[in-house]
Amino acid sequence: MINEPSLKQPDISELTELDKRHYIHPTTIPKLHAENGPKLTFKEGNGIFVKDIHGDEYIDGLSMLWNVNLGHGNKELASVAKEQMEKLAFSSSFAGYSNEPAVRLAEKIAAMAPGDLNSVFFTSGGSESNDTAFKLARFYWNLKGQPEKKKIIALKQSYHGVTIAAQTATAIPAFHSFSGSGISEVFHAVPHLTKCEEGDKKDPNYKNSIRALVEREGAETIAAVIVEPVQGSGGVHMPPEGYLQAVRKLCDEFNILFLADEVICGFGRTGKMFGVDNWGVVPDLMSVAKGVSSGYSQLGGVLIKDEIRDTIVQYEDVLAHGFTYSGHPTACAVALKNIEILERDQVVANVKNMESELKAGFKYLEDKHPTFTKSRALGLLSGFELYADRDEMVPFDQSILPATEVVEECFNRKLILRPLVSNVGRNIVAIAPPLIINKQEVELMINIIDESISAFERKHL
Ligand SMILES: Cc1ncc(COP(=O)(O)O)c(C=O)c1O
Repeated sequence: MINEPSLKQPDISELTELDKRHYIHPTTIPKLHAENGPKLTFKEGNGIFVKDIHGDEYIDGLSMLWNVNLGHGNKELASVAKEQMEKLAFSSSFAGYSNEPAVRLAEKIAAMAPGDLNSVFFTSGGSESNDTAFKLARFYWNLKGQPEKKKIIALKQSYHGVTIAAQTATAIPAFHSFSGSGISEVFHAVPHLTKCEEGDKKDPNYKNSIRALVEREGAETIAAVIVEPVQGSGGVHMPPEGYLQAVRKLCDEFNILFLADEVICGFGRTGKMFGVDNWGVVPDLMSVAKGVSSGYSQLGGVLIKDEIRDTIVQYEDVLAHGFTYSGHPTACAVALKNIEILERDQVVANVKNMESELKAGFKYLEDKHPTFTKSRALGLLSGFELYADRDEMVPFDQSILPATEVVEECFNRKLILRPLVSNVGRNIVAIAPPLIINKQEVELMINIIDESISAFERKHL
């Protein structure tokens, strides 16, 4: 709980009016926002709790955007940022300039990453990482004398970000209709068709598989396949056992790069340091962001395997890609401390323990609530679904948005979660609390979800 006295109250109505007038919010309904102002204006946080400007305290059940992995108000991260800012807040990484925190972080991440992912290209976030990965993949094939290998295969239900290439790979329709354009040569396969990816052509879904797309387009035109180890914003979908291994094999068979988007999964979220570690798979390129700094600094990166790195370093011209904030010293110093704490405090082991607590809570909810089903958790990446008739998988009437309603009930009881869309509508609730959560706090979340589903069921059953 937050014990420290709040700072002087801001003028709340003034802040609301200024927000409505001047601040265009991402992934928010503009008309509603301009009329009503912010849903909540955050002010401070401690551990899994955040307070708003009214002094109301909420549980942050999604680590904000699946990223505040060490929780709020971490003084060690704040101190290291201050120290680094006082010494050297920013320096360029262009034209061969360097700085110690970026070098140390690159070395540290290489030591933690699976296989021979031993080099890093730094970015400021997940979308930039995925755009960078696509460009590096194409650049690599160019250097290998195969410039026609340009196409990218992503999965339906995937979320890879909003910069124009990452957005094209994202398979959530609203993000495509927003600006009506994308890059060409990106294709989407149905996720998790393990048998098809292993080569079973008799499967009725075969034509929707990655393998079928590769055969249709020609492997000689395909640069990379991008996969989230566990799909996040598309619905918290777990891959079936063997799926990632099958995609890895397929990529090897057809000489295609396997790009893992670890933006949510990376740095402990799934109970292993990286999502792919759950299946012993080593990608060729790996995008990271979010958990690398627990959101205390804006940082992302693409991890690069040795063979790609060794090819790139033969290039004698300028590598014409980079962001002003690539290798930002303050961001990297914060990330180094974040990783030090993750390891020192055995946070990933806590994630595994809390996964069990969460699953016990899900079992209780499933036994009690007839609408609750399909709960899943890998580490602290979890969710459940709501159906009118769960045995027959009958969704609620279209006029009812069950996940949105339950999330709103939770919000009214001071727990922040997120509704997600499945193929039957808005019926998935995502839960991904900070990785430092304890047993009592998991129970507190489950109690609130319990009460919230009860309120929803009283209305609709
Ligand atoms: C799997 C995945 N990839 C990429 C991104 C984009 O990251 P960012 O919002 O930092 O650009 C996200 C963001 O939620 C994500 O979940």
